[in-house]
Amino acid sequence: MVELQLAAIAPMLACPECGDILAIRDRSLFCAQRHNFDIARQGYVSLLTGAATKMSGDTAAMLDARAAFQDARHFAPIADAVATTVGSARQSPPRSILEIGAGTGYYLAAALDAIGEATGTALDVSKPAARRAARAHPRAASILADAWRGLPIRSGQFDVVLSVFAPRNAEEIARILAPGGRFVVVTPTPRHLSELIEPLSMISVDATKQDRLAETLSGHFTELDHTLIEYPMSLTHADISNVVAMGPSAHHAADTRATRIAPLPDPMPITASVTISTYRKD
Ligand SMILES: C[S@@+](CC[C@H](N)C(=O)[O-])C[C@H]1O[C@@H](n2cnc3c(N)ncnc32)[C@H](O)[C@@H]1O
Ligand SMILES: [Zn+2]
Repeated sequence: MVELQLAAIAPMLACPECGDILAIRDRSLFCAQRHNFDIARQGYVSLLTGAATKMSGDTAAMLDARAAFQDARHFAPIADAVATTVGSARQSPPRSILEIGAGTGYYLAAALDAIGEATGTALDVSKPAARRAARAHPRAASILADAWRGLPIRSGQFDVVLSVFAPRNAEEIARILAPGGRFVVVTPTPRHLSELIEPLSMISVDATKQDRLAETLSGHFTELDHTLIEYPMSLTHADISNVVAMGPSAHHAADTRATRIAPLPDPMPITASVTISTYRKD
């Protein structure tokens, strides 16, 4: 029941127009000033306001490719590690988890499966993502919002914020974390999918990414821990097509993708390599 999921998280949300607390009635969220936000038929609520945002996030085709790749379980070891990290991020299990740039909601759902009582909130600026995330888990609600604007969330609400291959607005994330809250971040290392970069002209991971992450978070967060998750995958041509189509190289050389994949081994050994870092709010 979508309304129940949204009802569970409504007290943590803030009206994007006036910052007031939101309540839920029938199929909408509303504040005391009568700003009203309808719950979409597909189960998410849009808290995007003002001029149409330039951000539209991932397309439906990218979400389909991402869901297919995740369903094939190639990133299951990453999801398992995320769930363990989120579950042990604080002394007591988190009661509220927000995933920013949640996409399909795959990692949020893995964390909720591992942590019995917690409620989850998936936030994404892409409508196709918000639709999928609304169905990701019985304890997850889905909101449409732009991570680069002020988040429509009251201060100090979430025990854990999660960012997996997604945008990070350090100041806003620090604001919405509860005292003692943790920020769990997954970033690719330069070895992630590296075997595919040249044959498919994919955008490579910048080797300074981890340093830049530390830089953007400094002043707001202190790193407590990080773990490298690295393992070999065996990807078929269909898997390779999905992993390219779901990421930042989706629009890049898309027309020649099939021709470029054809000569590759089927299946092909490909490395998955990410860092999971846990931060404490300063
Ligand atoms: C690479 S995907 C990762 C999705 C998911 N965390 C996963 O790993 O499966 C990045 C996600 O961030 C979303 N995104 C991009 N810009 C955003 C923004 N400004 N605000 C919120 N979400 C955004 C995209 O729509 C996309 O779903
Ligand atoms: Zn309002």
